[in-house]
Amino acid sequence: MDIVDAVRSRKSIRGYKPDPVPKEILKEILDIALNTPSAMNTQPWEITVVTGEVLHNIGKGNVEMANARVEPSQELAHKPFEDKYRQRQVDLAIQIFQLMGITREDKEKRAKWYHLGYRFFDAPAAFILSMDKSLDGSLMSLLDMGAIMQTICLTALNYGLGTCIEDQGVMFPGVVREHTGIPESSRIIISIAIGYPDWDFPANKLESTREPVENVVTWYGDA
Ligand SMILES: Cc1cc2nc3c(=O)[nH]c(=O)nc-3n(C[C@H](O)[C@H](O)[C@H](O)COP(=O)(O)O)c2cc1C
Repeated sequence: MDIVDAVRSRKSIRGYKPDPVPKEILKEILDIALNTPSAMNTQPWEITVVTGEVLHNIGKGNVEMANARVEPSQELAHKPFEDKYRQRQVDLAIQIFQLMGITREDKEKRAKWYHLGYRFFDAPAAFILSMDKSLDGSLMSLLDMGAIMQTICLTALNYGLGTCIEDQGVMFPGVVREHTGIPESSRIIISIAIGYPDWDFPANKLESTREPVENVVTWYGDA
């Protein structure tokens, strides 16, 4: 697949066909994505692949936590967005809820939507990206994690697969650890749901917006 087509066509997929993704394909995607550059070639990433019963149980555990109103405790430091960033977050939610036919007042449907996210949007597989805690405080290593995250998503397109990067999937790290061997010495950073897109699923029709080049790029020199 052409690189420009890949970058332009990648989008978050929030509805999947139940078809499993062959292990060889998942392995090939990761093998390719491991070409990602990292600061001083430190390669901080650890990748855990979860499918089948294990994935199902993590999703179930996440939903149970949410239903019990347990406060999320994701391990990637994060603070509430403000100003234009908050506005973009709200705009996205409005777009998704419109497509899914979820009104502001419909608390039950809203909860169901969040549960779907906690279940990795019922994708047949997910990657969990973690990083040794000895790298805590190294923002450079986080850049590396972001780079491999995007490389995985782009590479997946070559195999007809869709992805959704999700902090929601790892909001309850205790649940993830309960069902995987990810040790306490590793910081769980992010998850990526992966599978064959269900193009009839309303939220997959979402075309998320972007600021134009003029708004975010500053030029100096003669270019
Ligand atoms: C770090 C990160 C965390 C994200 N977490 C979630 C999530 O928990 N749930 C979700 O539905 N989408 C999540 N997304 C997807 C973003 O909402 C999405 O990338 C953004 O709205 C742009 O849309 P696009 O991916 O379709 O281009 C996340 C994306 C990133 C990069």
